[in-house]
Amino acid sequence: MAEVIVVGSRKAAGALVAEAIERLVAVQPDAVLGLATGDTPVPVYRALAERVRAGLDLSAVRGFALDEYVGIPVGHPQSYHSVIDAEVVVPLGLNPAAVHVPDGRSLGIETAGERYEAAILASGGIDLQILGIGTDGHIGFNEPGSSFASLTRVKTLTRQTREDNARFFDSVDEVPVHSITQGLGTILRARRLVLLAFGAAKAHAVAAAVEGPLTASVPASAIQLHPRATVVVDEEAASMLGELEYYRDAFENKPTWDPVIL
Ligand code: F6R
Repeated sequence: MAEVIVVGSRKAAGALVAEAIERLVAVQPDAVLGLATGDTPVPVYRALAERVRAGLDLSAVRGFALDEYVGIPVGHPQSYHSVIDAEVVVPLGLNPAAVHVPDGRSLGIETAGERYEAAILASGGIDLQILGIGTDGHIGFNEPGSSFASLTRVKTLTRQTREDNARFFDSVDEVPVHSITQGLGTILRARRLVLLAFGAAKAHAVAAAVEGPLTASVPASAIQLHPRATVVVDEEAASMLGELEYYRDAFENKPTWDPVIL
């Protein structure tokens, strides 16, 4: 099962994951990161940006965003193209040509998933996939019912996801109905998974993903199939986990030869 690490704050989570990424890049300067958007990964990107300002060189790192909205222009401030550019590419000093976002434009949308999968394969595969989790248990935009074998494709967003994401738009009606997302099968092919979650609103989804049955009704439960998955949560998001004391114990007694995340 996933290793669960409970941290005191979002900032501490960001520092922990940024440190792991720095260790990865030290041995593999052109590592491929899977990039989530939304609020959750922001502390990781901020912590990495701080390290870059202090001299860390990430210029050879490559990236693949998890997902993109379908039906809003690439230049829309809430398109994941724009968000990845503003929150990841620019502050981390990445090469924009080496950071990919699924193509959510209507023209050619039928083949956009296949093209994205081919680009991931051509890169050698994702080394470390950063994930958030939706209150309905989605990862990427794989909504409940998504196949564990799914690859990048168009998915219809649930009403709940659109309501959750309405905060980024003027109203829920402006949140696109469709997205193009890496599939659960795509995510499971990454060499490492790091799922982050903060706040009480995520507690139920986290418990279901980590300890519930493996079911397409909770797409994030797919992480139980991955041999190297780490879940980094604050106390609130951890609050419904049944084996919380065991996770704390395991982390406190982690063998020194077993690095955090990598
Ligand atoms: C975003 C993504 C989604 C979000 C999830 C949580 O690229 O793939 O799965 O991670 O909707 O969103 P936040 O972090 O905004 O709570």
